[in-house]
Amino acid sequence: VDVLVLHGPNLNLLGQRETTLYGHTTLNDINASLAILAEKSSLQLESLQSNWEGALIDRIHLARTDGTRFIIINAGALTHTSIGIRDALLAAEKPFIEVHLSNVYARESFRHHSYLADKAVAVISGLGAAGYRAALEYAIAQLNL
Ligand code: DQA
Repeated sequence: VDVLVLHGPNLNLLGQRETTLYGHTTLNDINASLAILAEKSSLQLESLQSNWEGALIDRIHLARTDGTRFIIINAGALTHTSIGIRDALLAAEKPFIEVHLSNVYARESFRHHSYLADKAVAVISGLGAAGYRAALEYAIAQLNL
């Protein structure tokens, strides 16, 4: 794949969970809108959601050799806890953008720290589903697709 989109724990419940915070858009809606953008640019895109840290790490490892050129990741709560995901992304040596639907800086202080942010090309936080699209548009431009 050209671009790998990873969604971490609890994001399968988008549209149902804390809707005042995360809205009514579902993960399927988000993936579908990204797929449309990708198709326009004849870009191969894969989206994966997992509630399991290890499954995300395994997929990032595959990205080392499967032709992945760019990663977009919303690691959910693992953003704030996972040195393992950080290390996997560093091992993969692919540029990545960290996305959050909500503005994590307007929330609890434990959400202000990210184990990924200092290694990311960019962090987009608070734009909702549009944040993923902005990240993908950047990736497309960057990869000259
Ligand atoms: C989130 C923000 C995280 O702090 C939280 O744990 C999530 C979602 C977001 O997209 O706003 O699960 O990554």
